Amino acid sequence: MTRHPFTIAVSGKGGTGKTTISSLLVRAFIEAGEVPVLAVDADPNANFHEALGVQVHETLGGMREEAFTRHIPPGMNRHDYVRFRFRQALVEAEGFDLVAMGRPEGTGCYCFANDLLSECMTQLERDYRFVVIDTEAGMEHISRGTIGKPDMLLVVSDPGARGLRTVTRIREIATELGLAPDRVFVVFNRYKTGTAPVGAGSETPFAIIPDDAAVEHADLAATPVSQIPGGSPARVAVRELADKIRVLARDRDETV
Ligand SMILES: Nc1ncnc2c1ncn2[C@@H]1O[C@H](COP(=O)(O)OP(=O)(O)O)[C@@H](O)[C@H]1O
Ligand SMILES: [Mg+2]
Repeated sequence: MTRHPFTIAVSGKGGTGKTTISSLLVRAFIEAGEVPVLAVDADPNANFHEALGVQVHETLGGMREEAFTRHIPPGMNRHDYVRFRFRQALVEAEGFDLVAMGRPEGTGCYCFANDLLSECMTQLERDYRFVVIDTEAGMEHISRGTIGKPDMLLVVSDPGARGLRTVTRIREIATELGLAPDRVFVVFNRYKTGTAPVGAGSETPFAIIPDDAAVEHADLAATPVSQIPGGSPARVAVRELADKIRVLARDRDETV
């Protein structure tokens, strides 16, 4: 039975912790046995792979459409070739695969990379349970339809008033783009106990991830943040977040 993967797009302002939370989420799903996970790096300044401790050799954005139409090997149709190239860009690791959108070549359009991603995501042989998309700041990919309509849009924010304004804006854009408001979830990151009136204002966070020295340490030591110790506060909190998401995914499947 092929399950329809539950897709989570992680958005938010630059530097709020999208990549950190995305990679800890991938790790948490793997630990929970929800494998394989597909990790998609949709940020042109790709670093999701570093956070997950793998290397990327080719990105989808670097694949030009002309090359496809011109160099399709004999005996392969376009469809086979697209899949073949997608698989070349796919990094396979323990419990997860990763694909990076990279930077689009030439026209600066992701159109072809988008085609590749959406075409291949719907027909991959691997039965992904969760797709975690680390997006760039702003809503580019969502507005361009790159990632389709995710099952869940996580908006990562610092808990301060300025962060909350960004959340409001992202929520508005998401609504304009036709994403149901009940698919948008706010995650407060780098929460320092007692620093912000959590729950105050209009945003009720779906999860609160504490500020964690282990995350900072991984950054300084250039080690994959997904490998911080299991008892680290941020990892524990993301594990709880992952469990809540698993419940939502199960609910979705039951109502289909
Ligand atoms: N919970 C946390 N505790 C401590 N440092 C964090 C936490 N989350 C993120 N950081 C740090 O904040 C910086 C930005 O995080 P990153 O995940 O790269 O953000 P983004 O992908 O949104 O640009 C990094 O230096 C990271 O180590
Ligand atoms: Mg990032």
